[in-house]
Amino acid sequence: DKADADYLISLMRAIPGFPKEGILFRDIMPVFADARGLSILMDALVSNLSIANDEFDAVAGLEARGFLFGPTLAERLGKGFIAVRKAGKLPPPTVRESYALEYGDASIEIERNAIREGERILIVDDLIATGGSASAARDLVISCGGVVAGFSFIMELSGLNGVKTLGDYPASSLLTMP
Ligand code: HPA
Repeated sequence: DKADADYLISLMRAIPGFPKEGILFRDIMPVFADARGLSILMDALVSNLSIANDEFDAVAGLEARGFLFGPTLAERLGKGFIAVRKAGKLPPPTVRESYALEYGDASIEIERNAIREGERILIVDDLIATGGSASAARDLVISCGGVVAGFSFIMELSGLNGVKTLGDYPASSLLTMP
């Protein structure tokens, strides 16, 4: 409800000039630190999904902040969790994608055999900015033979238009911030 939404928003911080000049950094960590905030967050993620529970088979979350809630969300939905990690952390065989960030660039990997042929994957992360990491995760899922069922984010930075870069997939964001 409105009180819960307001409470969630009250826990978010915006830090100008971090980690670089010109970036307004949105910090969601206080939500995880707060018992009521965490409970509201998880309930809201479950109830705001853009796809039905029978439209996907597993949740894939991005390191690092997609790991904070991805497994909990997966467990609540009766699914397993697949880790999309920073390059070099997972044992072979893996598939790798490089991408540009709002600030900097990076490579992510998934275990080649973590996804079954045709498995439908919900991709989750805390925040979508330019969409670089989420698009890379989408490509990894497809490279492994999976099907991207949709995306779920806690926060969307609307000014960066990241959701538009994902393609024609269902996507939900709990909060949209400029
Ligand atoms: N906050 C957290 N992570 C981010 C941001 C932000 O504003 N932009 C890109 N990644």
